[in-house]
Amino acid sequence: MPAAVLIGAQWGDEGKGKATDLLGSRLDYVVKFNGGNNAGHTVVIGDEKYALHLLPSGILTPGVTPVIANGVVVDIEVLFEELEGLEARGVDVSKLKVSANAHLITQYHRTLDKVTERFLGKRQIGTTGRGIGPSYADKINRVGIRMQDLFDENILRQKVEGALDQKNHLLVKIYNRRAIGVDEVVDELLSYVDRLRPMVTDTALLLHEALERDETVLFEGGQATMLDVDHGTYPFVTSSNATSGGAITGSGIAPNKIDRVIAVIKAYTTRVGAGPFPTELFDEWGDFLTQQGHEFGTTTGRKRRTGWYDAPIARYSARINGVTDFVLTKLDVLTGIERIPVAVAYDVDGQRFDEIPVSQSDFHHAKPIYEEFPGWTEDISGAREFSDLPANAQSYVRELEAMSGSRISAIGVGPGRDEIVTLHDLLG
Ligand code: GDP
Ligand code: IMO
Ligand code: MG
Repeated sequence: MPAAVLIGAQWGDEGKGKATDLLGSRLDYVVKFNGGNNAGHTVVIGDEKYALHLLPSGILTPGVTPVIANGVVVDIEVLFEELEGLEARGVDVSKLKVSANAHLITQYHRTLDKVTERFLGKRQIGTTGRGIGPSYADKINRVGIRMQDLFDENILRQKVEGALDQKNHLLVKIYNRRAIGVDEVVDELLSYVDRLRPMVTDTALLLHEALERDETVLFEGGQATMLDVDHGTYPFVTSSNATSGGAITGSGIAPNKIDRVIAVIKAYTTRVGAGPFPTELFDEWGDFLTQQGHEFGTTTGRKRRTGWYDAPIARYSARINGVTDFVLTKLDVLTGIERIPVAVAYDVDGQRFDEIPVSQSDFHHAKPIYEEFPGWTEDISGAREFSDLPANAQSYVRELEAMSGSRISAIGVGPGRDEIVTLHDLLG
């Protein structure tokens, strides 16, 4: 089974990093196809804890070739920081390949991300401030700088000049910031060229050839379905396609090559940043989920907003992504709750919606309609077979499965690599 896509089903931080790591030893390639260093994936291996941002989680598995594909926006300074950090801990990073078509995040993107957020005031998105949106905006506006531009100094200078022309007017006249010099940007970028040269390649061709040889490729999404720029809660989204379609355009591999779509979903819901979140909790149960689940962002350290499981979101994700398998994570966090509410539909001004309303205004006003399921008190972190779970945990999982639009093939019962119950082979 050569190609699988793994994405987040909710608003991110579902445990995609752990799920990728779990499959690591069976993979030849792990491909990051969207986003940039806005992602934060925590992987726990024994006593070691790793936080990955720009690099795909597969980099931690010896033998895997990690790939940063064309759909990613790359902050090169961050790339080297992260590589050096891993090397210092003994991780072999020498196989990394980066697409010649990936766009760059430079200092002016980071600056613009921060000043535009400040300007939005109450309408802020709550971005990670990493320059993601401005870099993708340049790509769409056709004034972006790509990896391959670094290898032709004249072209690079022309493109940086072109990009800064308008931006400096904006920075100085609107945002009251200093102008950014062409030379300082070009010189910084050129300083990376020698180290980048061996990594930068035609990754679409590389992956195509790997699939022709029947090698196993996992496309690992950053962010998640509800943060997708087309299918998420726009404008409270990231600036890339985090859904399974993004794996196609973001890597240059055709849709008929994909065999499986694995969606990672938490047994409850979290969100970082602004935007609608129907099941959000503002009471002690919200604090319970934050504390039990350690719900603090891996990238910005912000406290994550928390709420109950939302079945219409799961069904929406199943449809948009063509999910074949769900990995249900953090079931252990719900231990000790007497009755666990699950949103089965919404009420919008007296009208019942069984699916996510298409109008964003309706979604902002959606009140969850809950069903409650009996909880359990036993520690489940040692469970490895479905039958090891307490009867009520088993029925909670089965109830979620029945309302979520695809089968649940694995269940996370703790952060560690082996803390997982497998029901169906994710790559079989
Ligand atoms: P990602 O962005 O989707 O890779 O997820 P993050 O790494 O940002 O957040 C998920 C967090 O949950 C990490 O701290 C993981 O170590 C942790 N985690 C993953 N799966 C489980 C699980 O089944 N149980 C518990 N308790 N923690 C988990
Ligand atoms: P992983 O891959 C959770 C959120 C930000 C903000 C919005 C836009 O770890 O699941 P951006 O900086 O991308 O322009 O911010 O998207 N966001 C995430 N939330 N997990 C992530 O990544 C996220 N990446 C971006 O908080 O609301
Ligand atoms: Mg994360």
